[in-house]
This record gives sequence, C-alpha cells and structure tokens, in this order.
Amino acid sequence: LPGNARVQPQPVHKKADSFWRIGHRGFPHVAPENTIASFAKAVESGIDMVEFDVTMTRDGVPVVLHDKTLDRTTTGRGSVRRRTYSELQDLDAGSWFSTEFSDQKIPTLNDVLDFLKGKIAMNIEIKLEAVGLKMRGGIEQKVLQAVQKRGLTPHVVVSSFLPLAVKRIKKLCPEQSTALLLTRRPRRDPRVIADRVRADALHLPKEGVTAELIRIALSEGIPMRVFTVNAVKEMQKLLTWNVDGIFSDRADYFFKLTSGNGGPGLAM
Ligand code: G3P
Ligand code: MG
Repeated sequence: LPGNARVQPQPVHKKADSFWRIGHRGFPHVAPENTIASFAKAVESGIDMVEFDVTMTRDGVPVVLHDKTLDRTTTGRGSVRRRTYSELQDLDAGSWFSTEFSDQKIPTLNDVLDFLKGKIAMNIEIKLEAVGLKMRGGIEQKVLQAVQKRGLTPHVVVSSFLPLAVKRIKKLCPEQSTALLLTRRPRRDPRVIADRVRADALHLPKEGVTAELIRIALSEGIPMRVFTVNAVKEMQKLLTWNVDGIFSDRADYFFKLTSGNGGPGLAM
C-alpha cells in the first residue's frame, strides 16, 4: 500500500450510495445490545454495518460487551476483566431487556465474527480497559488475528477512543481500516488528529460536529462518522452535510431518510 493512502471498508452487499447506515451495538431497540439476537435483527433490517464493543476477560478472551462491569446488561456483577471466560458463560445477557431473550449469552468476538461473516460489514470498537501494556499478545493482535483468520479485513473498521490502540492496529496491519473515536469536537485540523495515529477515519459524537468541520475533513479526504444519532431530523441534517456514516440505536429510521444531495434516496 502506498504510504499514507487511507483504507476504507468495503460493503458486504452492494450499496446504492457511499453512506454507511450503522447499527449501534446491533439493533438495540428490538433486541438486547451486543448479543447475537441483536446482530441478527440488524442483518435482517438491511443496514450496512454493525458496531459492537470488544473487551477482554481475565484469561484473555475477547468478548463483546459495552460496559466495564456485568451489572447493567447481564445477570452477573462486577468487572469483566476479573472474570474468566468460563465464568461468563453461565450469565444471561438478554433478560434485562426482555424475558424473550433470556437465552442470550455474552458472545465472544469469534462468535460474533462467525455469525456476521458474509452478512454485513462491522465496526469493532476496542474498549479502553481491554488495552494492555503490550501490543503483541494483546487485544489489538487478538482482534486482528480473529478478523484475518476469517478473511474479513476488507469489511471491518477497527476503532478505539484510545489513540494507542488505533496506532497499534495500523502498525500490526497497515491494510486494516481504522478509526479514532473522539469524545468531543476536535480542536485541531481533522487531518492532524487522524494522521497522528494513522487513522483512516474519525468517529465523532453528534455534539462535536458542524457542517464546517465535515466540509474541512471531506476536503482532506477524511471520512467522518457520527454517533449516536437517534432522531430522523438529525440524521437527515447530517446526511446533507455528507457525513460518511451514522451510528444509531434506531437503525430502522435510516429507511425514513431521503437523499441529502440529489443522489439516490436511501428510503427502500
Ligand atoms: O463506536 C461508537 C460508539 O459506540 C462509541 O461510544 O460508549 O457507545 O461505545 P460507546
Ligand atoms: Mg461502542
């Protein structure tokens, strides 16, 4: 690959436009976040990508869960990284949402990749607390190995709020598309921020984006994807600004949108 070419993910199914409709933690308004049930609903809906969070157990197994602790979304308690994977297997990760989903477990990264392979593109978000001192043998290498083993590299974006993790991913695998997550509106030029960690895109909170910022980033060739947008009106506005993608807990709303710039409409 030429030195600084930004690597962008490829859709699994051909899309009518370049915009990414991203299900945040799956399809969490109808099924519990970050479970296979939720990913199944996301796939059925016809969106383009699912985002999910990866953290690590005490014995080094990458698992898909958002919080540092088990309390909110499972029948367990306490911090995930103090538990072995076998201890997590007995937990129910669906009942908190509805008894209908009491069969849902905390999936491993491997479970999720096996399930989604060939169905939909993915954004794997590496959680801060999973990142260790070492790059080799750490979460970054485990994520890359799991993705590469299945030939999924072109359909995956790996992101993190931790710049170190993004940097390590690119160092280990330059062909892997990466994104740096920001917690607020960037103070510097998007290109400076992205280049510092060799990120291929920036993922920003909706409070941190303006039309001007998106315009600058676009002119620099840096795709901007925005989280977590759950109102049709706001989605529509961001689409008009030419954001590259939107993360939503209401990914069904993507089908209510019309085209931002005279291109093909998104409504099915
Ligand atoms: O990856 C986008 C978004 O998921 C980042 O925040 O806390 O929902 O993982 P969080
Ligand atoms: Mg996330």
